[in-house]
Amino acid sequence: MAASATGKVCSVFKSGLFRDSVAIVTGGGTGIGRAITRELLHLGCKVVIASRKAERLHQAADEMRSELGEGSTADIKAIQCNIREEDQVKTLISYTLDTFGRIDCLVNNGGGQFMSPAKDITTKGWNAVINTNLTGTFQMCREVYNRWMRDNGGSIVNITVDNWNGFPQFVHTGAARAGVVNMSKTLALEWAKDGIRINNVAAGTIYSETAAANYGEHNIFVQCLPDMPTKRLGTVEEIAAAVCFLLSPAAAFINGETLKVDGAASLYGRQVFRIPDHEKSKPYTWGKSRAPTLKDYYDDKASKSKL
Ligand SMILES: NC(=O)c1ccc[n+]([C@@H]2O[C@H](COP(=O)([O-])OP(=O)(O)OC[C@H]3O[C@@H](n4cnc5c(N)ncnc54)[C@H](OP(=O)(O)O)[C@@H]3O)[C@@H](O)[C@H]2O)c1
Repeated sequence: MAASATGKVCSVFKSGLFRDSVAIVTGGGTGIGRAITRELLHLGCKVVIASRKAERLHQAADEMRSELGEGSTADIKAIQCNIREEDQVKTLISYTLDTFGRIDCLVNNGGGQFMSPAKDITTKGWNAVINTNLTGTFQMCREVYNRWMRDNGGSIVNITVDNWNGFPQFVHTGAARAGVVNMSKTLALEWAKDGIRINNVAAGTIYSETAAANYGEHNIFVQCLPDMPTKRLGTVEEIAAAVCFLLSPAAAFINGETLKVDGAASLYGRQVFRIPDHEKSKPYTWGKSRAPTLKDYYDDKASKSKL
């Protein structure tokens, strides 16, 4: 869904595509999750959004409900849930089944991390990020499977990160997201027999107000822009479109896959964030030997040219 020149929202998908479907979108009240929810609602879906901050979540649901057209088959409910907590995940699944009677789509979008060199991350901080982004995603998949999709099929999309060459300053979430990518391949294989597909959207650098606020003084979007081939940031709607494609029957033969939505940033070969203190690299040493540096080669060439 994107804003047209006239300011009206428009979608490339067929009207009513998700008319008979029910979806759960974690983190559906803000940023990327909100854009996914709006697109699904626009396509007739019934959506339950879930996250920790109840007031903001319910306000978002009220706003999106007020946008629904007359006679729309769509509906939206909100329920507080911390995906790290197993009992709250179980309550979310029960609530969705009690309210809408089925779960066709699950979007594991809820997640977060903080910026820090690896050496400064405490075990508590590490666990918080792993428990949210990896364990929380797993718990959602397992509960949706056991309570509904095993007997009825369905489609799952996880939002992951575009971190194919490690993720300096974000070792915790880099590890968690790599775990989600591999987990999805396993679940795709184990659950294909039940008519379930599970795919990932690896989001590049996507601007949203909440994402910008999360990193405050680091101003990560300004840091990223010079290395982006598109010379622009992605939009939340561009992630939503990819998610809806993967959820839809148009992707019926795509399973266990990760779709990069990054404007080719991952092909550019540079890290999104600078590696701290990298310019102070020490030369490699082994006993009394030292690996030559670039300066050694140039100094050597210069001294030979004087002979
Ligand atoms: N923006 C980007 O450039 C980018 C790039 C790659 C990946 N991503 C990922 O995409 C997802 C959405 O990010 P965003 O940019 O839209 O930022 P965002 O608005 O901050 O979205 C994060 C959402 O996750 C929810 N959440 C966080 N921890 C949770 C928990 N333990 N249980 C349930 N919900 C939780 C938050 O709601 P509550 O605070 O209410 O819980 C919030 O709605 C995140 O997983 C993010 O890491 C973003």
